[in-house]
Amino acid sequence: MITKHEFGTLESESRKIYNYTMKNRGGMSVTVTEFGGAIVEIRVPDKFGRDTDVVGGYDSLRDYVLADGYLGALVGRVANRIAGGTFTLDGETHRLFRNNGKNSLHGGKVGWSHRVWAVKPEDGEEPKLTLTLHSPDGDEGYPGNMDVTVTYELLSNNALSIRYEATTDKRTPVNLTNHTYFNLGGYASGSIRDHVLQIEADTYLPTDADLIPTGEIRSVAGTPFDFREPKTIGRDMDADNADLKTAGGYDQCFNFTGGATKAPERRIIVYEPNSGRVLTVFTDQPCVQFYSGNFLDSAEFPMKGGLPRRKQTAFCLETQAMPDSVNHPNFTNTILNPNETYTHTVIYRFSVQQ
Ligand code: GAL
Repeated sequence: MITKHEFGTLESESRKIYNYTMKNRGGMSVTVTEFGGAIVEIRVPDKFGRDTDVVGGYDSLRDYVLADGYLGALVGRVANRIAGGTFTLDGETHRLFRNNGKNSLHGGKVGWSHRVWAVKPEDGEEPKLTLTLHSPDGDEGYPGNMDVTVTYELLSNNALSIRYEATTDKRTPVNLTNHTYFNLGGYASGSIRDHVLQIEADTYLPTDADLIPTGEIRSVAGTPFDFREPKTIGRDMDADNADLKTAGGYDQCFNFTGGATKAPERRIIVYEPNSGRVLTVFTDQPCVQFYSGNFLDSAEFPMKGGLPRRKQTAFCLETQAMPDSVNHPNFTNTILNPNETYTHTVIYRFSVQQ
């Protein structure tokens, strides 16, 4: 089932913004807003059958427009940071808006997280929302007209599938992701430290003081970044480690063992003991940026229900290719050619463990 409701008025465009809620028979619902294509709510049962909202977000459209943090949003044209806000492609240097110190973050000044997406609902047993956006040639300094389609589908087995597709008429980088903040105990349940996390990644990307990858691809073995066996997020988060200190916690790219796959594979499992909720992530992408919400603090923008926004009370699992690939020849390829289609699938499946 899909229902549509007014969220608010976007003053800058004098238009109403709507939210769409998809529900399935498994007791799960997902609400998506036209603004930034953001996921504003996911309700899913815990081991006692009680449903709770497990994602961070705001009550008002205004906060999605003004606040930082990219809560729930679709991020593009290129997720994460581009060093110096610049890259050279086919001999031409492109300059992007520097919205993160001297770097470009998550698409620039008005990235796709801050654009209004056209939403087409398709009701059924497995309700679906198809979101589209046109990004003109030169948008935020990126070359080429891009057309993007993102499909959110709520499956019967309490999984949310997100499928991205993009085309271009000039060679351009693209690296899309979704920036949902999860707390499986419920978004208002406090610290994420006790969540048990497993990531099938044998290497990660160390970063410099600006959180830009240095170019090294380092083994996780013997480091706090080894999540190949399940461990709590909190166990090694305060370890004496330069990358953790720079980021104030986890905020690194983890490279899945074996790299990208043709079809989505199970790569991440998260378990929260109090609720018994389990989140299993399947993807075809080569990497995930695991971000433990280190910059989530905000006195200015409380979350839903007036809950103070606090550090490390939610985490993001942003599937993608390697950040700043445009400036690292040894990283993944993020350049899309005019005759190709960028594709990316991620499935967030919820279940419970007694
Ligand atoms: C994450 C990024 C963080 C931070 C956050 C937004 O994707 O890894 O460093 O910028 O977005 O607050």
